Amino acid sequence: MRLDRFLSNLPRFNRQEVRQLLASGRVRVDGQVRCDGHDEVRVFSRVELDAEVLQAGKAARYFMLHKPPGVVSATEHPEHRTVLDLLDEPDTHELHLAGRLDLNTSGLLLLTNDGQWSRRVTAPTGKQPKVYLVETEEPIDPACIEAFARGLYFSFEDLLTQPAELHILAPRQARLTLYEGRYHQVKRMFGHFQNKVIGLHRLSVGRIQLDERLSPGQYRALTAEEIASFASH
Ligand code: URA
Repeated sequence: MRLDRFLSNLPRFNRQEVRQLLASGRVRVDGQVRCDGHDEVRVFSRVELDAEVLQAGKAARYFMLHKPPGVVSATEHPEHRTVLDLLDEPDTHELHLAGRLDLNTSGLLLLTNDGQWSRRVTAPTGKQPKVYLVETEEPIDPACIEAFARGLYFSFEDLLTQPAELHILAPRQARLTLYEGRYHQVKRMFGHFQNKVIGLHRLSVGRIQLDERLSPGQYRALTAEEIASFASH
C-alpha cells in the first residue's frame, strides 16, 4: 500500500495533514525518513511517526528445506505429508512455497511468507539458474547436450525451452542447469529421448545452494545474504 494511503487510513489524519507530516520529515519507514507518499508500505514495514510506532511490521520469514522424496510440495494435501509438516515453526499456514518439486524429487525448496520475494524467485523471465542432479534409467545420449542447449519444443505449451546446460557425470547421471521452470520440465526433456528420470535432486536456485549440513527433511532459516540474492534492485 502507498505510504500516503496508509497514513490517511489512520482515523486521526486527513489528507492534508498526511501531506504535511510527510513534508516535515517526521515519518520513517524501516528507520529511514520518507517524504514521498508514493513509497510502499508492506505488512513487513515498520512505520514510525516521531517516536511513535504506527505499525511494528510483521517478521518476514525465509527458509530452505531439504525436501525428501515422498513429501508433497503443497501447503495441504488429502493423502500425503506436505513440506509444511516438516517445519517446526509457528503459523506455518502463513508460509508458501517459492517454487515446487515433484513428489519424488528431493533437494532445495524455498519457503517464505513474503510474496514479493517468492515472485522474484519464481518469475518465469527471471533467468535464475536451477541446478539438478539427474539419474536416468538408460544411458544418457550425448546428443542431449546439444539438443538441451538449443532448446526443445514443448507442444503442450507451444514453446521452445530456454537453453539449458547438461553435464554428463556418469553413463546414467548428469547435472542439468535450467533457466526456467516448466511443469515436469526435466522429466519431459529426457522423455524426448525416451529416457526415464528415476532420480531427481535440486542443488540450487539462483545463488542459493542446498546446505550440505541439512539431511533430507531438515531445514534452516536463510541468511541475510541468501535473502538479498533475490532482492529487488
Ligand atoms: N523438473 C521435473 O521434472 N520435476 C521437478 O520436480 C523439477 C523439475
